[in-house]
Amino acid sequence: MPAPLSLTVNGQARTLEASAQVTLLQLLRNDLGLNGPKYGCGLGQCGACTVLVDGTAARACVIPAHGVCGREITTLEGLGHRGQAHPVQQAFIDAQAAQCGYCLNGMVMMAAALLARNPTPTDDDIRRELSGNLCRCGTHLEILQAVHRAALLMATTGNTAS
Ligand code: FES
Repeated sequence: MPAPLSLTVNGQARTLEASAQVTLLQLLRNDLGLNGPKYGCGLGQCGACTVLVDGTAARACVIPAHGVCGREITTLEGLGHRGQAHPVQQAFIDAQAAQCGYCLNGMVMMAAALLARNPTPTDDDIRRELSGNLCRCGTHLEILQAVHRAALLMATTGNTAS
């Protein structure tokens, strides 16, 4: 039976109704039309659904919507703005770090969370952070370059928004 829940999504306070079985991913995609987070495995194993919960990367497919009441959720849509991409988004565009693009939401959100904690990550830091995010196309080298470029953009522009 649906019950009300309140949370903040991309800076906006939202009150919605959801049953206990509804996941955060379903709430974001089906009720709020935020399709940046993707449904991949549905088991917390591929990273396609990654969002930020209070600034920490989390797998929205395995989080009950009611489990994030009162929390602040950031999706890919809330990371940057039309006309002003987040440095990580811009870096992924600059590095052309995509083929099919299905994993990109997770890669970008994980990279944003990493750079917020560690503005100068090494190759190993980036590999470790993204090791749980699956890319079937094999764009790993471009993704690595994109995260380094994002770090550079953040350092040179002072834009560290996440
Ligand atoms: Fe959530 Fe795969 S869809 S981790």
